[in-house]
Amino acid sequence: MSVEAGMWVEKYRPTKLSEVVNQTDIVGSLEALIKDPTEMPHLMFSGSAGVGKTTVALCITRQILGEYANDYTLELNASDERGIGMVREKVKKFSRFAGMADVPFKIIILDEADEMTSDAQTALRRIIEDTAKICRFILIANNISKIIDPIQSRCAIFKFTSISEEDVIGRLEEIAKKEKVKVDKKGLKAIYDYSEGDLRHAINILQATASLGAINETNVKATSGLSKTSDVGDVLKLALSGKVAESREKMIELIKVYGMSESDFLKYINSVVFKSKHSNLAEILEIIAKYDYRILVGANPEIQLSAMLAEIANVEK
Ligand SMILES: Nc1ncnc2c1ncn2[C@@H]1O[C@H](COP(=O)(O)OP(=O)(O)OP(=O)(O)O)[C@@H](O)[C@H]1O
Ligand SMILES: [Mg+2]
Repeated sequence: MSVEAGMWVEKYRPTKLSEVVNQTDIVGSLEALIKDPTEMPHLMFSGSAGVGKTTVALCITRQILGEYANDYTLELNASDERGIGMVREKVKKFSRFAGMADVPFKIIILDEADEMTSDAQTALRRIIEDTAKICRFILIANNISKIIDPIQSRCAIFKFTSISEEDVIGRLEEIAKKEKVKVDKKGLKAIYDYSEGDLRHAINILQATASLGAINETNVKATSGLSKTSDVGDVLKLALSGKVAESREKMIELIKVYGMSESDFLKYINSVVFKSKHSNLAEILEIIAKYDYRILVGANPEIQLSAMLAEIANVEK
């Protein structure tokens, strides 16, 4: 079995639009659109990672092209270093002969289209026009504002949103049941918190945690290792409210029990402080920088980080 085949994200990737979780407006419109595929425009999918863009694109090709899906679908990655020249060559070859009695058109899925320079996008626009009789494009972009207007205006645009807590947890429960792993509510909630609505990330954490045993909070935390910004946020909050001992305890737990490195801890606390827009932002950032330096030159990290938390606690006084 290949590594990918063993991965739950692939095993449980929906093959039909009706199986897609969340994104109900998008799925509804697309199902209506493909009832009469000859009318289907080019499509553009935008949105953050792991929310179903590629999955939906593949479902559509399967539903329109049926048994011919493999032969009449071309998947390209626009950020390929060979660039627009490669795209042009491949699209040209792919769209060359019409001989397609049983399908309305061929489909080209172009992922990471927003990584193309605007010159390349202008060239892409020509390619889309030149092949319009034979091909439909599904363009995928994380950031739609990086796509030039002439391309946007030629596509029906669908903005994918991150997946709600209810739907992430529902999907995880379904998978856990099929895989016969025990779950509890807190464990699933913890996975959702780490995933921030990225279902791919959530399923990967579920699988990694299952290899330790039941899906409970402790196992999830142990698995999620470094994606622990929210815990670092708690350390900061405790320090800022003057609870130095508790703050230090939590910091040591993160480092000793969950294996977070001191430098990662500093990186996370730096970003948490920055995002907090604290009124003494500059002062706190300087404190962090000071201890970062001390640890770098070889001082004992545990002692230094404890002192740092004590000093941060003083900021509020
Ligand atoms: N809406 C969804 N319904 C069901 N499963 C989903 C959904 N979104 C993501 N998944 C799961 O996550 C995996 C990755 O999803 P997908 O490849 O569609 O993400 P994406 O939006 O294209 O992300 P990226 O921007 O990183 O390419 C799928 O194989 C599937 O297991
Ligand atoms: Mg994708």
